[in-house]
Amino acid sequence: MVGKICGTGSYVPPHVMDNDDLAKIVDTSDEWIRERTGIGKRHIIEEETTSYMAGQAALRAVEQSGIDPSEIELIIAATSSSDVVFPCAACEVQKTIGAVHAAGYDMNAACTGFVLAFNTAQAYISAGIYKTVLVIGADSMSNLVDWNDRGTCILFGDGAGAVLLRAEEGTPVYMAAHSDGGKGQALTLQSRHRKDWDKESGEESYIYMDGQAVFKFAVRKVPEIIEEVLEKAEMSLEQIDYFVLHQANRRIIEAAAKRLKTDITKFPMNLEEYANTSAATVPILLDEMNREGSLKRGQKIMLAGFGAGLTWAASLFEW
Ligand code: ACO
Repeated sequence: MVGKICGTGSYVPPHVMDNDDLAKIVDTSDEWIRERTGIGKRHIIEEETTSYMAGQAALRAVEQSGIDPSEIELIIAATSSSDVVFPCAACEVQKTIGAVHAAGYDMNAACTGFVLAFNTAQAYISAGIYKTVLVIGADSMSNLVDWNDRGTCILFGDGAGAVLLRAEEGTPVYMAAHSDGGKGQALTLQSRHRKDWDKESGEESYIYMDGQAVFKFAVRKVPEIIEEVLEKAEMSLEQIDYFVLHQANRRIIEAAAKRLKTDITKFPMNLEEYANTSAATVPILLDEMNREGSLKRGQKIMLAGFGAGLTWAASLFEW
């Protein structure tokens, strides 16, 4: 059995901050941000929380599927910015959507989180353990960045996306995942709950990123893992209809397409509108593609995520 996507949903906060708004806070410009990243604006939470956005995305996915929430057996929420340490975001979503029979837990692998959660759900389904699984990616990156640091605050936005999987007979899902903890210092965020940290510095902690190291890592590892999954599936690049990559930076996606010698039109992007919403980028993009009618049954979709850890993962499935 494989998990077929029977519903998608997403939620982004209505409050928009464009590059010109950012230029009033830090020394930057619309031209610099667009040229280096492809980002034009980002949606930022005001009153909303990560769990709220996750719940709204989940409601939309469930509504589209027509499946009764009581049939959902498992909810996995990928997030690294849950508003509370516990209860986990997945349990908050359970409450919001009335999935009274579901188990729920969160997974944290930063920007790679959704692809890993999707693969975990597929593994449960193919093992016959669960039939109906809700997978969510949700993050409030605006709570984690230093709004005085132009090197990072320009990159991120807030949002959530969800897919509902239902077990069916079908083409297997092929997947791969890797980590390199030895390079973890390239992208870090200290826990705000570490009392010794707060005492030592008297300051809040924010995302630290070696931008060029992350850039080089992504450009090398994303094509590699895509090739690895294709080899497992005994398929070629030409057979893939869409490569749905983590939306961190237009230049990373363009470089990956170039290395794979594949036309950029097969790499949909929406980061101009939403920036990098971490674990939410892939499911938000899938939801947009689904709702605009770009996805047809039988098409082959390759997901690829990369991020802090360092971690990277990919998944190949038939729509
Ligand atoms: N506006 C204007 N100037 C800036 C800004 C800004 N927002 N940010 C940095 N600069 C300046 C720097 O201070 C530096 O100035 P200097 O030459 O006088 O010292 C100059 O621009 C070049 O800085 P670099 O950091 O070398 O710029 P780079 O071309 O590497 O671009 C960027 C920075 C966009 C962060 C790039 O490294 C990148 O995209 N890295 C990938 C990281 C990424 O996408 N992370 C997302 C999170 S992780 C994830 O999702 C996996």
